[in-house]
Amino acid sequence: MSRVNSKRTVGIPLPMPCGWFHVAYSDEIGPGESKPVFYFDQDLVIFRTEAGDAKVVDAYCPHMGAHLGYGIREQMGKGAKIVGDNIVCPFHGWQFNGEGQCTHIPYATNLPPKVACGEAVLKAWPVREVNGSIVAWYHPQVIAPTYEPEPIPELNATPDEWADPIRHSWEIGTHMQEMGENAVDPAHFMFVHGTNDIPNAEIMEFDGHRRRGFLKTRQPTPQGEIEGSIENENVGPGLSVVRFKGLVDTILVATVSPVTNEITSAHYAFYQRREDVDGTKGRIGKALIANIKQQMEEDLVIWDRKKYYARPLLCDGDGPFAKFRRWYGQFLVE
Ligand code: FES
Ligand SMILES: [Fe+2]
Repeated sequence: MSRVNSKRTVGIPLPMPCGWFHVAYSDEIGPGESKPVFYFDQDLVIFRTEAGDAKVVDAYCPHMGAHLGYGIREQMGKGAKIVGDNIVCPFHGWQFNGEGQCTHIPYATNLPPKVACGEAVLKAWPVREVNGSIVAWYHPQVIAPTYEPEPIPELNATPDEWADPIRHSWEIGTHMQEMGENAVDPAHFMFVHGTNDIPNAEIMEFDGHRRRGFLKTRQPTPQGEIEGSIENENVGPGLSVVRFKGLVDTILVATVSPVTNEITSAHYAFYQRREDVDGTKGRIGKALIANIKQQMEEDLVIWDRKKYYARPLLCDGDGPFAKFRRWYGQFLVE
């Protein structure tokens, strides 16, 4: 039997980027609940204290190595039990708070010294909750956050104006930088996404941990072409906010996280105004989301199989890839 090239890209010589990354949507974990996840090439557990604070810790109990994300008995099929601010290991009932300290050993009379003096015995991750996501700070050298995740102004200023988001998720066999490059690649739109022409990038800004781009577009509609614009903005490598203006204003909150350096998870949440969703423009709004989802699936065919070139053979009509990679390079620490 002949073999075609394997689906998953292998051998990308880039490390996972550092930054704030989505590890779950806020509404996936209620107070007193926990959940196992795999990001940053490791097993983690997210839990929410009974008071409602989200926490992220390493998955393996420092006692004898049980996984903290899988409950037993009355917790069967759910995560480990939460008591107050602590997650309870299903194996011997030791309790740990979100700072990684062991706060209770139910059967010990003499506590291990590290536990007695309140030292962290389980790795606790910096966590924030913003724009409907629980985000964790990843840095290979375990350095404290160098920037803060940011709330999206319009969604936070007038939350009632926006309908519940429509969400889609993918797992893609490529490094995050390869996906991010799409934003500075106007030429691919015509070939991968079938647009009539190559869109004109009017603005391309790189500023610290931020990046911003602005494109004028023509959207084909049954009523003819309509002028619109797409503004895309990155806050670090893990969050991009794309604002589509035209027929139905749409905000795409795209959170992208490294599963490994060659597998990326992408979560798209689309926000449209309640009055548009419920009104006569509802169908157009849905079609717009379906179209962006389809574009993602078109890009995926390329990303899942492409090879990474440190020095691609570029021409003058190509986007500012070198500039983009220099900007992205600040997040690639070995
Ligand atoms: S392995 Fe967790 S309490 Fe023993
Ligand atoms: Fe694309």
